[in-house]
Amino acid sequence: MTPSEEKSTLPIAVFDSGVGGLTVLHECLVSLPEEDFVYLGDDARFPYGPRSPEELCSHVEEITRFLLDRGTKLIVIACNSASSAGLELAQEIAGESGVEVVAVIEPEAEIAAAISEHGRVGVLATPATVESGAYLRALAGQHRALTVTEVEAPDLAAVIQRGFPFDENVMEMARSYCAPLKRARVDTVILGCTHYPLVGPMLQRTLGRDVRLVTAGHAIAATLQRRLEVNGLETGHRGEEGAYSFLCTEDPARFRELGTRFLQMPVGEVELVDLRAAGSRGYP
Ligand code: DGL
Repeated sequence: MTPSEEKSTLPIAVFDSGVGGLTVLHECLVSLPEEDFVYLGDDARFPYGPRSPEELCSHVEEITRFLLDRGTKLIVIACNSASSAGLELAQEIAGESGVEVVAVIEPEAEIAAAISEHGRVGVLATPATVESGAYLRALAGQHRALTVTEVEAPDLAAVIQRGFPFDENVMEMARSYCAPLKRARVDTVILGCTHYPLVGPMLQRTLGRDVRLVTAGHAIAATLQRRLEVNGLETGHRGEEGAYSFLCTEDPARFRELGTRFLQMPVGEVELVDLRAAGSRGYP
């Protein structure tokens, strides 16, 4: 096997602070059924949303090095908070090993700019993501005049990560976060946290059915396919389903239970991992 053929047999690594990135993995498993995937949920350090850029960079660095050590052909940051602070750092670190990094944020900005009817775009995201200005920058780069209304939703990812029941309190939370978006009469809303599609129906009901919700899953799956093709890293048509596995940093049983519900596919055994094993340099 040539080194490139050998690399193409490695899994695609996807990571998030918890179960939110499963909304991205779900689309990838459907769109690229022959590829192998490994998913890491950093549940020990959930939530990422209130963390500083320095902390997020430290976590991103640690996870990136860990995944590279385990062996991967491509890394997907399926967490907006982590992407908003640490994408460039992850690209730099993984680039040294010849591994590309694909992330959320830019793909949703592209879709929103393309589909918004009146150019009034809302963004619902964690404090870390909103404060980074990452969506404002990504939307400003879309060559279209857009009015952007951003809303921080500090508690929504945590409620989702805790799991069901999605009761009236969650619905009320959805209403209150959507209120400024409704006042701004947005026609398109980016769900700027990979946890949020899990309460997509509640948000859609509150915002009204004419508002278009943008999520990252489809776009990431399409980007992955392109990157694999361009770099000759497709697993090849082996005519069978690829394997997928799960790692977490705190509570495998809990991850498995929640993950099975959210992924809508079997999760199997979840491996508890120690990220510090791969070491981290340069960040506190
Ligand atoms: N899914 C993460 C994000 O996209 C989760 C948020 C959190 O950990 O607070 O931002």
